[in-house]
Amino acid sequence: MPAQIGVTGLAVMGANLARNFARNGYTVALHNRSVEKTDALLAAHGGEGDFVRTETLAELVDALEVPRRVLIMVKAGTPVDSVIEQLVPLLEEGDIVIDAGNSHYEDTRRREAALAEKGLHFVGIGVSGGEEGALLGPSIMPGGSRESYDALGPLLEKISAKVDGEPCCAWIGTDGAGHFVKMVHNGIEYADMQVIGEAYDLLRSGAGIGPAEQAGIFEEWNKGELASFLIEITAEVLAHVDAKTGAPFVDVIVDSAGQKGTGRWTVVSALELGSPVSAIAESVFARGLSSQRDQRSRAQGALAGGEAEVQLPVEFVEDVRQALYASKLVSYAQGLDMLTSAAAEYGWDLKLDEIASLWRGGCIIRAELLKEITGAYAAGERPANLLLAPAFRDAIAAALPAWRRVVSTAVQLGIPVPVFSASLAYYDGLRRDRLPAALTQGLRDLFGAHTYGRVDAEGTFHTLWSGDKSEVAAVDTH
Ligand code: 6PG
Repeated sequence: MPAQIGVTGLAVMGANLARNFARNGYTVALHNRSVEKTDALLAAHGGEGDFVRTETLAELVDALEVPRRVLIMVKAGTPVDSVIEQLVPLLEEGDIVIDAGNSHYEDTRRREAALAEKGLHFVGIGVSGGEEGALLGPSIMPGGSRESYDALGPLLEKISAKVDGEPCCAWIGTDGAGHFVKMVHNGIEYADMQVIGEAYDLLRSGAGIGPAEQAGIFEEWNKGELASFLIEITAEVLAHVDAKTGAPFVDVIVDSAGQKGTGRWTVVSALELGSPVSAIAESVFARGLSSQRDQRSRAQGALAGGEAEVQLPVEFVEDVRQALYASKLVSYAQGLDMLTSAAAEYGWDLKLDEIASLWRGGCIIRAELLKEITGAYAAGERPANLLLAPAFRDAIAAALPAWRRVVSTAVQLGIPVPVFSASLAYYDGLRRDRLPAALTQGLRDLFGAHTYGRVDAEGTFHTLWSGDKSEVAAVDTH
């Protein structure tokens, strides 16, 4: 029987996706550059379903039903181009090439356009959920043509995570839309983890609560509005004790956070779109600062702290919880707002309710909160910003006193809370009647004749600063 899907690249993610397809009743053709990986997979898991062993890409293509679906799961970047180059001559019009790696959406746009010229579909799919998700049900964000989704979507929906019986997979939009949305998911993932880190630091350095006790606190938090995968695993990591030293595990880990690039890509893209994702950006920068270990060790003894004596409020732990929730909401609001800007820029019809819904299960940022976010964007009147949706507007209003107390306490104590504070600044900036951007415009006009708009008239103006300071109508030059 011909296979319904072929998978090339059988490292853990590719192998687990292949097994997931097979466990769901599909016949899966397997290929890997070195055949040992294919054989190892078959030896360990061959009984889980119907697999077809192949040794070359030509054999893989031959094993597939038409239209052929070939899923590539190799390292993002040139390895993807190299596999595509070898595959294309073997395929026929209407076949579908799928890239399930964390590829940059611009690469996906380029590859989609190039393959479309040859009559082939190229589908970049964002897959979230790590190794376990790939095997048991990830959250899947497919881009590419609508037509390709008709042939591919049912398979992806079948292997995806389910929440309330609904698949955590839906067609996102053309060309690179799927990889774009996955990238923003990762940006939110970075901010989510950073706010958790800031809460941990405040409780530890501010209130002197050790990791074991904090594990219990996070476990409790996971029962309420913060309920999410990342809060759940925070409790697990904090409870873990290092076998070698008997110390809390978190204390034996080098405090320098790695990054593979998707968080950085989110921020670069946001800068290009003019999208203010300050919380996400601060979380990427926080990883950057953590990695400058040499400068940090020199600064430790050399730079003054000037911390103030602060009496922590009795409700400090609850304050931190509320600040964490409010800051987390801001990072979701920023990420979703960035999607709105990208939709306009790239001509994608991104449905924020569907995106929030498919993030409810399988992915790293899965959280109870996403159910309400889905509801907010599914409502008749969609909020211009998530924070304006009635439920979230009220939740933030309730958390505000605690949020402000936590940020000012952190500042007094010298505990860095870049995302707690950037989120609060974004919130205050968003709601402010007049921003100092008016002064910025005045300065730009003075030194560069960049012009400005007036609050009381249409058009663009310039003041003759080096003349009699009279105002003239101007052509907008920015
Ligand atoms: C997911 C994750 C995953 C990502 C890792 C590592 O959704 O399953 O986002 O795709 O690769 O989380 O990312 P960093 O190394 O950049 O932290």
